[in-house]
Amino acid sequence: MFERLREDIQSVFHRDPAARNAFEVLTCYPGMHAIWLHRLGHILWRNNWKWLARVVSNFGRWLTGIEIHPGAKVGRRFFIDHGMGIVIGETAEIGNDVTLYQGVTLGGTSWNKGKRHPTLEDGVVVGAGAKVLGPFTVGAGAKIGSNAVVTKAVPAGATAVGIPGRIIVKSDDAVEAKRKAIAEKLGFDAYGVSEDMPDPVARAIGQLLDHLQAVDGRLEGMCGALTKLGSDYCAGELPELRDEVFDCVKDDTEAKGVEAKVG
Ligand SMILES: CC(C)(COP(=O)(O)OP(=O)(O)OC[C@H]1O[C@@H](n2cnc3c(N)ncnc32)[C@H](O)[C@@H]1OP(=O)(O)O)[C@@H](O)C(=O)NCCC(=O)NCCS
Repeated sequence: MFERLREDIQSVFHRDPAARNAFEVLTCYPGMHAIWLHRLGHILWRNNWKWLARVVSNFGRWLTGIEIHPGAKVGRRFFIDHGMGIVIGETAEIGNDVTLYQGVTLGGTSWNKGKRHPTLEDGVVVGAGAKVLGPFTVGAGAKIGSNAVVTKAVPAGATAVGIPGRIIVKSDDAVEAKRKAIAEKLGFDAYGVSEDMPDPVARAIGQLLDHLQAVDGRLEGMCGALTKLGSDYCAGELPELRDEVFDCVKDDTEAKGVEAKVG
């Protein structure tokens, strides 16, 4: 029990730069009080002391402004910052190291019994005022922006913002998507040519794909203009690149790799 308490306090130091010492965290963090009361309420709920569990949950709400249904499953090092106005529904499931800010709702959109609240995997952060509604999963490490309304699954590591929640594509992701598109067009696997690859050859291929993408765009523009002027210069198809050619290259490279290992 004391181990869990220590862990809870440490999780506050990791996620709130304003926290100064353990005594302050123990006495001045309503998120901590709500979690501890929830643990008691959840034990009562599981042992079929349902009414008593609801009373404990209601006491926690009265004390902290955080309403956690005693049936909700909560993992370790859960951190609720500020807290007021949080609602966590009965069938919500929360993994380890999850952070919620004030005003978050993990709610349902139907009155049917059964799973109707979201599942937050490990390390999810939900910004102030966000509403996450429905029985879907927010993948590990995902972030939900403040005031977003999310009603669909969020992939692991993604960031969802706005109403309705949309996934932000960072500029690096956009470059990567373009590279993948042009590599697929050329007929070979684009995996392994991302910007963060340490392999200089792969990085060079990445740069070439960017350049090809730019040339491709410019040619398309020129062809469009020529067609408008009545030319049929761009009417013919370009010769196709066939997968088999790259398969041969791949086989050859793999064979060389095996030879090198044997050698
Ligand atoms: C969603 C969030 C995690 C994104 O952080 P990030 O990955 O660093 O993303 P950025 O700040 O680079 O923003 C990326 C884009 O999303 C937009 N964006 C960020 N947060 C947003 C939000 N809550 N709603 C709408 N759009 C948002 C930015 O304007 C930016 O748009 P642009 O690319 O058109 O310029 C963060 O903005 C957030 O809301 N965190 C919650 C913090 C919180 O609730 N704190 C309460 C403390 S009391």
